[in-house]
Amino acid sequence: MILLIGGEKGGTGKSTIATNLAVFLALRGVDVMLLDADPQGTASKWVERRNGAEAAAVHCAQKTGDVYATAMDLAKRYQVVIIDAGGRDSRELRTAMVAADRMIIPLKASQADLETLPHLDEVVGLAKGMNPSLVATAILSMAPTNPIINEVAEARDLLVQFEEIGLANGVVRERKIYRDAMYAGRGVVEMGNGKAKAEIQLLAQELFPGL
Ligand SMILES: Nc1ncnc2c1ncn2[C@@H]1O[C@H](COP(=O)(O)OP(=O)(O)O)[C@@H](O)[C@H]1O
Ligand SMILES: [Mg+2]
Repeated sequence: MILLIGGEKGGTGKSTIATNLAVFLALRGVDVMLLDADPQGTASKWVERRNGAEAAAVHCAQKTGDVYATAMDLAKRYQVVIIDAGGRDSRELRTAMVAADRMIIPLKASQADLETLPHLDEVVGLAKGMNPSLVATAILSMAPTNPIINEVAEARDLLVQFEEIGLANGVVRERKIYRDAMYAGRGVVEMGNGKAKAEIQLLAQELFPGL
């Protein structure tokens, strides 16, 4: 199973979600490979910090440019391949979309993030021409913890206009523990924050129902 975390904007929490899902799966004994397809190498640097922290190993490979063949090959050897693609319309993103079974697009509910969606919707449509089984969903990321703001309902209303992109049920909220975990080479499921842990568990159950 190939899960692509992608989008056309940086700083939306892609690498955070990729690394947290990888830790969640690794701790459950799932054979998981994190494929870092972002030239900025955020996920690879996180793995280096993790290796220095005596944590359970998470496998990580780096590939930029055309990642299709690498992703398909890794998917033969690993149960789950998580691709962390950079935040722009790149060759990495386009080729990963042809390989992926599932794509999630982390979005802050900000205008700047939402403005990327019409173009991304088109790009997903093109990828589906080559990869008809691709399922793409946006996920609200870094959402405010204030329960009065119902961003999920608002985002769902907004996403209705896009043909190719649905909305994941899971929501990742803005919590300092995510930054701490990224810095420490950890996943939040390994740290003592029940709320963040529950978010990642729910998201993982939604994305990997059989695992
Ligand atoms: N849910 C969150 N809560 C708090 N901080 C977050 C969250 N997600 C990401 N961040 C922080 O925001 C910054 C960008 O996140 P990152 O995952 O690297 O985004 P991207 O990969 O989309 O560029 C990082 O400093 C990261 O620690
Ligand atoms: Mg990133």
